[in-house]
Amino acid sequence: ADVVQLRSQLLSWYDKEKRELPWRTLALAESDINIRTYAVWVSEIMLQQTQVATVKEYYKRWLKKWPTVQDLAAATIEEVNQMWSGLGYYSRGRRLHEGAQKVVLELKGRMPRTVDDLLKQLPGVGRYTAAAVGSIALGQVTGAVDGNVIRVLCRVRAIGADSTRPTVTEALWNLSNLLVDPERPGDFNQALMELGAQVCTPKGPLCIKCPVQSHCRSYHKGSNLPDIEDCIN
Ligand code: ADE
Repeated sequence: ADVVQLRSQLLSWYDKEKRELPWRTLALAESDINIRTYAVWVSEIMLQQTQVATVKEYYKRWLKKWPTVQDLAAATIEEVNQMWSGLGYYSRGRRLHEGAQKVVLELKGRMPRTVDDLLKQLPGVGRYTAAAVGSIALGQVTGAVDGNVIRVLCRVRAIGADSTRPTVTEALWNLSNLLVDPERPGDFNQALMELGAQVCTPKGPLCIKCPVQSHCRSYHKGSNLPDIEDCIN
């Protein structure tokens, strides 16, 4: 019941307060599943090491030039590098291009349809990116743990232990898989990211604005100092 309430409070807040970002448009949500998966894949690769504000324009330009995975596969690496210039970490652009060629040449132009296949079939796609694309584009019910989500979940559960430790990372993935809304997994995951970006910020979190304040152990304790039990369970 607690989880159900947390989901609905978080999603109501997200529906009202989310930023309109180009990869969150209605047009994209209503487009063909192959287009949608390709577009969300592009957005998540760009967002891996670049800020949202910078990615917006690059993402729009990219999709205008290469609206489908087939268009990207047909591009040259020079065009790809030119389009990527300014985003940094060029290997990300190269892997998108390689991935697109693989989809066209080996997968009949069909983007992977599950988190597992995203992870196995697309170069440069790790656990987080596969979960993000799977939930956002494909409605796969999985949590997705990135830097923002780590901070939010550690605060909600008052986990003070080093979140880079494998056992802590696993606990956070387990927790996000328990919390994710099975009806709206992509929105739920993006709502946690959005909460981390707008409210549950690294310094000076705006707890008075937080939709899940009543569920937050750190808020109730006035801190998120180490709590061994929470780390293990
Ligand atoms: N960072 C990574 N993925 C994101 C998304 N879908 N929306 C906002 N920030 C993100």
